[in-house]
Amino acid sequence: MDQEQLKQQIKQLAAERNALLMAHNYQRDEVQEIADVTGDSLALSMEAAKTDKDVIVFCGVHFMAESAAILAPEKTVLLPREDAGCPMADMITDEQLRQFKAEHPDGVVVTYVNSTAAVKAESDICCTSSNAINVARSLEAKKLLMVPDRNLGRFIAKHVPEKECICWEGYCPTHDRLSVEEIRQAKAEHPDAVFMAHPECTPEILDMADHICSTSGMYEYAKTNPAKTFIVGTENGILWRLKVENPEKEFIMPSRRLVCPNMKLTSLEDILKCLQTLEPRITVDETTREKAKQSLDRMLAVPR
Ligand code: 13P
Ligand code: SF4
Repeated sequence: MDQEQLKQQIKQLAAERNALLMAHNYQRDEVQEIADVTGDSLALSMEAAKTDKDVIVFCGVHFMAESAAILAPEKTVLLPREDAGCPMADMITDEQLRQFKAEHPDGVVVTYVNSTAAVKAESDICCTSSNAINVARSLEAKKLLMVPDRNLGRFIAKHVPEKECICWEGYCPTHDRLSVEEIRQAKAEHPDAVFMAHPECTPEILDMADHICSTSGMYEYAKTNPAKTFIVGTENGILWRLKVENPEKEFIMPSRRLVCPNMKLTSLEDILKCLQTLEPRITVDETTREKAKQSLDRMLAVPR
């Protein structure tokens, strides 16, 4: 079956199943193309919470589908590739978080959504890359325990200096390996370019950026900034929509290593199969779900 036939079958079956196809901004081009909704982690969670469809096909990684299952327990949430995980989310367990809290009893736990449901359940509030600063500022506590991403934690510490941020030593292997040398070289080759970076990059890289934002923030920045050339400091899946929306602009990947292997697992064949079988289904046990939902709800209540 060719790609067009596959896409047609997916659309037809999605309609029969009353399913919503959601894709994160890092998914393969053809997956983003066929999705009903694309977006960053926050936008997709919010969409999952409000959709009236019966089935959510979440083309992303495990923690994202879990967030959808937490926010919309009455829906059937499907993750086309069950093996699509997030190494950063797995860098802290709920047991380790309990230990971390015991070491800092006066700390408030701010957990990046790139985390398991069990870790969210042990947290006070969640954040995403697009609302992390607002979430930190909204809290009365002076001491924040930032998990699992040390880079996002340090980014918050820099922008919210009135708080003491203690960061867990987790990181995204894809963003963390972007090097200062690669950015120097891209800037030297494109002296008129502006550099936009995701807060999962290291502090040294963020210090070199003209703009720091979530994946969806990059679409907004590329559209509204008059520059003609942009150096892109995030996973390469973002290029598809950047190019569709800005055909007259040039987008430069500073490194060939900005690829998240987990985000690239999902194929059109996987999506069709999961619509046929309604598997793999992602569920969260009710006790964990209720507690994790409180952390997500507190985050969603913070003004953007
Ligand atoms: P956002 O889509 O929230 O910017 O997150 C990036 C990411 O790494 C998701 O895994
Ligand atoms: Fe996890 Fe990084 Fe991949 Fe996002 S890009 S899913 S943070 S490993």
